[in-house]
Amino acid sequence: MTRPLKIAFAGLGTVGGGVVKALQKRSEILEARAGRPLEIVGMCARSRHKSRGFEVTNWVDDPQALAAGDADVIVELIGGEDGPALALSEAALESGKHVVTANKALLARHGAHLAALAESKGLALRFEAAVAGGIPIVKSLRESLIAYGVVTVRGILNGTCNYILTQMEATGRSFEEVLSDAQHLGYAEADPTLDVGGGDTAHKLALLAGLAFGMTPDLDHMPVEGIAHISPEDIAFAREFGYRIKLLGIAKATAQGIDQRVQPAMVKAGTPLADVDGAFNAVMAVANDAGPFFFEGRGAGEAPTANAVIADLVDIARGNMGPAFGIPAHSLISLSPAPAGSAVSAFYLRFQVLDVPGVLAEIAGHLAKWRVSIESMIQRGRAPSEAVSIVMITHETKHADVQRALKTIALSDKVIAPPCMIPMEAR
Ligand SMILES: NC(=O)c1ccc[n+]([C@@H]2O[C@H](COP(=O)([O-])OP(=O)(O)OC[C@H]3O[C@@H](n4cnc5c(N)ncnc54)[C@H](OP(=O)(O)O)[C@@H]3O)[C@@H](O)[C@H]2O)c1
Repeated sequence: MTRPLKIAFAGLGTVGGGVVKALQKRSEILEARAGRPLEIVGMCARSRHKSRGFEVTNWVDDPQALAAGDADVIVELIGGEDGPALALSEAALESGKHVVTANKALLARHGAHLAALAESKGLALRFEAAVAGGIPIVKSLRESLIAYGVVTVRGILNGTCNYILTQMEATGRSFEEVLSDAQHLGYAEADPTLDVGGGDTAHKLALLAGLAFGMTPDLDHMPVEGIAHISPEDIAFAREFGYRIKLLGIAKATAQGIDQRVQPAMVKAGTPLADVDGAFNAVMAVANDAGPFFFEGRGAGEAPTANAVIADLVDIARGNMGPAFGIPAHSLISLSPAPAGSAVSAFYLRFQVLDVPGVLAEIAGHLAKWRVSIESMIQRGRAPSEAVSIVMITHETKHADVQRALKTIALSDKVIAPPCMIPMEAR
């Protein structure tokens, strides 16, 4: 009989449990796909006696022990940037074992180092489930969209944020109200900071940029903005202008360097990214002459992520051992980041102001000083002295210029709340 691929699991939660269940239930079909049996030789989690809905076999208490066992592959599904996940991944590779992980936080920080370690040992490091869950975007960027060079990647990479924004639009409720409901329904973590603050999207974007541009994943030159300040009013105005607000991870190769950022953006209604609703994820990758490619699917959850992990295991079983980021780890380069604020786009701006004479002229004056020109404007308000909203769409302008203008405008005694600026992506 063909030699089985021996697999050990560290982490048996949502993803790990899903993978084990699928391997136990679908062993025949997966063996046919893999060309050999996929055999579980080790399992480890925190609590040995938790009821998990599958048969727990070959238990070990300490994840590090898996690196010393007889597995061919360690599947790291514990999570976390450092700690046991990093220690186990290093130890596994050092001791000649392939590593499969879904851990974007670990790879965004240590991916280049782990990729180099894997290659030095002739091993595979695979992470399909780490970005956009069930969407096969890692393999697509690593092995498929390679002939012409990818110049832009834009993604809706966090299902929690997309769910919240979709619900805010559907119900007109505030961010706080929708987040609280999402937490009760289990769509958002008890501590949602990493999701709604944009950090999770940043981890995934760093990996996509690494794969797309052959660069060392770089979290340190990536402005990251979350969605907590998006108001129902912004969403309603966006709709009025023919846009939807999405939290995007954006990575572009520009003449000034790599422009990477995570921020809420106005996306034209009716375009593929704008139409992605609820907890779904999507990625638009533009591959020069080959044009744009659009991927959409479930970004999280047991089955989609287990599917991605199993695809990595089958690749390894079949001997597809190419480099983790598509090019040899020593060729990954630290590409220079584009200067902060150098990106250019049109903007949606909203000012909450006192309805007094001169306020519009004052705002327009500051914008003009920084060469920000206005394409269209709406003012909403009723009685004098009542707060009104002034909403503007600008022509294309440098992000830094808008930021500087808004900083000055915020100081005015007629402006009663911090101005809101949202770039318009891919109009
Ligand atoms: N959930 C998703 O949809 C999804 C999607 C894409 C990527 N990911 C990534 O996949 C990874 C796992 O996520 P998950 O949702 O499956 O997490 P999870 O449900 O919280 O499961 C984590 C597992 O790790 C175990 N664990 C925690 N600390 C440990 C330690 N020190 N030693 C040994 N085991 C330990 C836990 O043990 P107990 O079960 O005993 O508590 C649990 O089985 C993370 O990197 C996550 O970012 C998740």
